[in-house]
Amino acid sequence: MENQGQVTRVAVIGAGIMGAGIAQLAATAGLEVAIFDADQEQLVRARLQAEASLAKLEAKGIVNNDVSIAALQRLHPSGSVSAAAEGADLVIEAVVERLAVKQAIFAEAAVVAAPHALLATNTSQLSVTAIGSAVPAAGERVVGMHFFNPPVLMRLVEIVAGLESSSATIATAKSFAESLGKETVVCKKDSPGFLTSRIAAIVRLECMRMLEEGVGRAEDIDRALCLGLNFPIGPLELGDRNGHDTFLLAAESMASTLGERFRPTVGLRNMVAAGRLGRKTGRGIYQYDEHGAIVRPE
Ligand SMILES: NC(=O)c1ccc[n+]([C@@H]2O[C@H](COP(=O)([O-])OP(=O)(O)OC[C@H]3O[C@@H](n4cnc5c(N)ncnc54)[C@H](O)[C@@H]3O)[C@@H](O)[C@H]2O)c1
Repeated sequence: MENQGQVTRVAVIGAGIMGAGIAQLAATAGLEVAIFDADQEQLVRARLQAEASLAKLEAKGIVNNDVSIAALQRLHPSGSVSAAAEGADLVIEAVVERLAVKQAIFAEAAVVAAPHALLATNTSQLSVTAIGSAVPAAGERVVGMHFFNPPVLMRLVEIVAGLESSSATIATAKSFAESLGKETVVCKKDSPGFLTSRIAAIVRLECMRMLEEGVGRAEDIDRALCLGLNFPIGPLELGDRNGHDTFLLAAESMASTLGERFRPTVGLRNMVAAGRLGRKTGRGIYQYDEHGAIVRPE
């Protein structure tokens, strides 16, 4: 497998919360990044988000203006999966948490990406092996690269080995993540929810159950876990940041693989049905202002 260790061209498929951040991160690290989303508005939003995020990083002295300008120049919106993945050394998909959608993207991207390209999925809990089954001839180049929200700031990338992933693929995924300034852990077994998401889901679902049972107000549940149990952010607020639609799909999927304890609550289903998806729609468990800050009741 020629040239597998060198990643210079990256395709990011999906420009939502995660894809936008991953693309910004890779462009800031000096890579040419093509990004595609089925929803054109998401590409526009991703660009604006990258501009705003880089401006904040500049204000904090983390990057300088030259770096920001160069990063934005390396971010290329694309018109299709194929156009984005053409000649890429690494394809990272960060689309909706549905197996069939992710499989279709890998199948399309594998045809045009470089023959050595890594096909990485940012799924938070689906089987990497099942996603890779869409590209049987490329199974050894399939890997999970699980970034966390927000990708620009969170320190970890969880590398997930699918059943067919080669050790060279795991090594390349690890060194690529490290080149973005991240730390890595390797989840050796392709198991639902990997090392992280199954824990996060259990904690969040238990907080949702307590909220729905009226044990405490959302603010108090979150404060209790932050101040008493040393959580850096309340699980309910984190749920708002991550998006309840994505979490509902993940919880349903983990309930089907890991069991009843992952069953979504009625309140979670209702929030999604009502379009209260969290910060991205201005309302979830909490209400948000136009700057994305929680509006606290008087
Ligand atoms: N939100 C989180 O905190 C988080 C953290 C880690 C991993 N993830 C995973 O990352 C992935 C994306 O999550 P997100 O939070 O960014 O979701 P999101 O809803 O913000 O974005 C998903 C994007 O996928 C696009 N999309 C859907 N079908 C598509 C297709 N066929 N082709 C191209 N684009 C398509 C949508 O238009 C949308 O912009 C999921 O697999 C999720 O489990 C999410």
